[in-house]
Parts: sequence; C-alpha cells; structure tokens
Amino acid sequence: MFPTDRPRRLRRTPALRRLVAETTLEPRHLVLPMFVADGLAEPREISSMPGVHQHTLDSLAKAAVDAVSAGVGGLMLFGVPRPEDKDAVGSGATDPDGILNRGLRRLQTELGDDTVLMADTCLDEFTDHGHCGVLAEDGAVDNDATLARYVDMALAQADSGAHLLGTSGMMDGQVGAIRTALDAAQHTDTAILAYAAKYASAFYGPFREAVGSSLVGDRRSYQQDSANRRESLREVGLDIAEGADIVMVKPAMSYLDILREVADVSTVPVAAYQISGEYSMITAAAQNGWIDRTAAVLESLLSIRRAGADIILTYWAAEAALWLRDSQ
Ligand code: PBG
Repeated sequence: MFPTDRPRRLRRTPALRRLVAETTLEPRHLVLPMFVADGLAEPREISSMPGVHQHTLDSLAKAAVDAVSAGVGGLMLFGVPRPEDKDAVGSGATDPDGILNRGLRRLQTELGDDTVLMADTCLDEFTDHGHCGVLAEDGAVDNDATLARYVDMALAQADSGAHLLGTSGMMDGQVGAIRTALDAAQHTDTAILAYAAKYASAFYGPFREAVGSSLVGDRRSYQQDSANRRESLREVGLDIAEGADIVMVKPAMSYLDILREVADVSTVPVAAYQISGEYSMITAAAQNGWIDRTAAVLESLLSIRRAGADIILTYWAAEAALWLRDSQ
C-alpha cells in the first residue's frame, strides 16, 4: 500500500493538531512598545500605524494597566519630546523631567513590580538631527562621545524606575559602558536588553512618524547591513560579554534566519522586535480585505517564536494577549 508514511494523520482534527504543536505562544511572551508624547492634550493616533497611539501621561497609564491585565510580559516605553525641546545632544533624554523619564515614573507608580518596565535607551527621539548619537565636527556619529550620553540616560531611566534598559543605538561598547555605570551607582538590579543584532531597515519607516523623528538620511554607519549574517553572532557575543541580560534581533520577520542562529548559541534569553513596518504591512493588507487580520498576526507571532524568540516586542501585544487568553 502506498503511501506508507502519512503525516496527515496527525493533522486531521484540532485536538490532534493541538496535541503535537511544537511551539507555544502565550501572553507572557509579548511585550508592548508604547509612545508617550510631551505637550499632547489627548492621545493621537499614528496615521501610518492605525491602532497605535502617541499617549498623554494619563492615557499611557490607562493603556498600560489594560495591557498588563491582559497578561503581557512587559512594556517598552519610548518618549516623544516637543520638537522645540530637541537639541544636538538630546538633552531631553537625560533630563529627569524629560517626557520619557516622567512616563517611566508614572508607570512605576501605577504598576510597580507587577510588570517589567522597559525603557528605550537611545538618543534619536531627542536629537534635533534625529541620529542615535551625538555628531562629531564632520557630521559623523561620534561613538565614544555618545557612550557618555547613554550612560547619563541609563542612570536617569534607572532612577525613574525602569527594570530593563533597551540599548537600541548600535554604538560599540554601549552595553559595557552602561553596565559599569549602573553598577557604580548601586543600580545592580537594573537589567539590560541589548538590541544586539539590529539591522538598518526600510521597515522602520512608520516608527519615524510614531516618534516624530527629525532624521534626514539613514543609520547605515551604525546599524547592520542586511547582507550580513556572521556579524550578528559577533554583536551578540560582544553584548553578552559586556553584560547583556537579554539579547534582541530586530527587525523580526525579514531576519528569522538570524534569530534562529542567535537562539542556537545565546546563553541569555533572546527577544525579537516585530517592528513598525511589519505591523503596518499586515494592518494595511487586512484593512483592504486581502488577508485575515487575526490569523495573520498570530501566524507572524508564532513564526517568530518558532524561529527562536523567547520574547517578542509587538504592537499587537495587548490585543493578541486577549485573543490568546480567550482561546485557552
Ligand atoms: C531607535 C529605535 C528605532 C526603533 C526602535 N528603537 C528606530 C530606528 O532604529 O531607526 C524602531 C522600532 C519600530 O520600527 O517599530 N531608538
């Protein structure tokens, strides 16, 4: 009798499929990135990311509490200063009363240790030129001068109650510099989520609107080239050696091969960031009736888990957490 091998036997009923599913997706795996903007009277929807908002402090607190009660694993906060408050060194990032630090304190007061509060430790939202670091005379991003700014930013965020600092700027030595400074300031419990393998990507487009970025040009002199694979393992190795508690691959869907390789060798938990462009593509196609939104979102998240992510940053975190909870 042919065929003798019949893999379809295990796919016949939902119960069989559930029994043999290799990968799980749970609310705790999902982290919600959130934007808090200075000078807003009410939340503003980001037009290129329908369903995602720039928040006021009050709407941030409410959305955060809702996400945490839906079961998400954590929150990643980004600050959006008023355009007139941006300057060449990103002063708003280190100011304890800058919008990101105020947002962190508000969430810390609201949620305390009930969630994992993460902060974006990068200057690009706060600089008037939009780069992730400070510039040298010739206009290039000055790596070592930027490290000093990151250290001050990290200390302000730790003081404001962040549990985990997301080092997303792709400067060499950033994890080590921040770890040393945190330890010297008795912030030994503040952990570091290192954006270890972060590629220069066209899919960050909608995020630039989300944070009101001033960037002209690109970040190719510090973010990685999409052509490269080995380089990610080098970056991950360096970040772990410098003290990263979690490493991240970003973006997610176009880099699932990288994610798998990192997951295979990492000695710390691995995160992946399903970025703005990934969100917007699925949202736009679903709005046109071209794909089933819920199914496409869950498939994308499950695929990122299958590729090796322990943790996924996704703008669908709160909504997907509710779907997953209701389907239990
Ligand atoms: C840099 C940063 C970026 C994102 C997260 N942190 C933008 C960039 O590197 O250009 C992008 C996230 C997204 O696109 O959803 N602070």
